[in-house]
Amino acid sequence: MGCGCFCRLVVLLLTALALLFGCLCVPQVERAYIKFVDTYTYGVPLAHLALVVLGQVPRIWQVGGPLGVGPVWNPWLVDATDAYSKGDGLMLFPNPDNIASSYMLARVTHEKVREVHHNPTAKRDISKFISVETATSPPGYFADGVLPTLLQLNTDDPKRYAHRDLLSATMPSIAQSPDHVPGFQAPPGVSAQDLVRDISLHLWLPLKMVTNLVQDVFAFNFFRHAFEVDLSHEELQMLKEWLSVHSRIIVGLSSISGGKRCAELAKVLEDKVAAGAFGQRLMKEAERRGMVGADRLRKVIFEFSFAGFGGDGPGGGLATMKLLRLLQSKPEKYVPMFKKDPEAFILEVIRTRGGGGAGMNPWIVESTQTHTLSTGRVVTETAGSHGATIALHANHDPAVFGGPKRDLDYALAFMPGRENADRFLSFVAEYGEIKKCPNVTGCAEAPRFCMGTFVLQRIMKQIGFFYIEGLESQGRQEM
Ligand SMILES: *[C@@H]1O[C@H](CO)[C@@H](O)[C@H](O)[C@H]1NC(C)=O
Repeated sequence: MGCGCFCRLVVLLLTALALLFGCLCVPQVERAYIKFVDTYTYGVPLAHLALVVLGQVPRIWQVGGPLGVGPVWNPWLVDATDAYSKGDGLMLFPNPDNIASSYMLARVTHEKVREVHHNPTAKRDISKFISVETATSPPGYFADGVLPTLLQLNTDDPKRYAHRDLLSATMPSIAQSPDHVPGFQAPPGVSAQDLVRDISLHLWLPLKMVTNLVQDVFAFNFFRHAFEVDLSHEELQMLKEWLSVHSRIIVGLSSISGGKRCAELAKVLEDKVAAGAFGQRLMKEAERRGMVGADRLRKVIFEFSFAGFGGDGPGGGLATMKLLRLLQSKPEKYVPMFKKDPEAFILEVIRTRGGGGAGMNPWIVESTQTHTLSTGRVVTETAGSHGATIALHANHDPAVFGGPKRDLDYALAFMPGRENADRFLSFVAEYGEIKKCPNVTGCAEAPRFCMGTFVLQRIMKQIGFFYIEGLESQGRQEM
């Protein structure tokens, strides 16, 4: 059977699309495309977003998964529009309040992102969990005691400090240098070789952001470190299901049955953690501090599951995915580099590839100001509206990471232990400043930072060595 008229049309269209987006693999073309979209589609925010996202399609393999199409992973978007060097360090970003008709301004230079992340009085929107209006979500998604999460509270809110300090006091694993670090353990039935096969396949076929296996390995160890419990195979499946049902509300897919299911799944995990040593300690200390113990436990499990682990989305699982993909992309180069200095290697993975959320999004603009974009366009941002930050763009700012020539290629290069290595902003505050705080409650140098900063690195290091075991035993079998 030959190709009919319709079939020919489809082939023609697909070829045209492949050619168009294939050309974007040529750096000069990508640059021109980004500039074109920024200059000519400004008036139609939805078209602007669609074209930016389409332009990222060739990067899906490099970034690893469907999330690759987001405008937060590719520092070229900033460089090609000269936003690192001209204007007020801002970029247009879709406004969750109305994606179709307006923008919010994202801070993208190191200086501007740092200014927001280090602002001791930074304000957040308490009615929203990421982009979700929590008050109108069906029951079950946010159980009693969960709201407001740490993400939603103003930086100077005493409730925020009190909650962080409770964790600081009862969860030794999140400290910078804990007395005891739990050893690595693979989840039931998982071998290092399984993980190597899984990542090798993902380099070719990045269908998910975080594969099921990486989610299992990360979550199992994360619960061991943070909550001092070993999840069973069934409990791991439930944890993943909880996050995947819950995260659908971010794209507007909430339902009565979804809320009910979330409540059931959350209860299983809550009972599990409550029975363990950490759960008991946390609830007791919370009551001593005048808080409701069970509510605090529920809140911590929610925060650590969504913002810490992240399921098939931003979080510690994704950061681990980025580490393993890098090791697998060129083991002969990266394995010795990892072994030489695993701590520096992991910091450089997080600086160059991120893993957690894009930044502090959204935060509330404090004062009305008129800004100039790199294109010369003048935009007024009003007090009370939403703003965004993109940490990964700040992490590539040539002014801090570009070496003597302040050059983007230098900033993009993977160099563990590079100068200014600890100035990246993925953990919200600069990493070097976070280390100055006496504990993870926070301090003036780093008023707001990721509570998992230290425990994440320890888990990634353990998983990195486990992975390398898998690579090396594979090598032996092939000899
Ligand atoms: C954390 O450090 C702060 C500042 O030194 C201190 O006030 C607080 O009690 C500490 N918290 C814990 C749990 O040790």
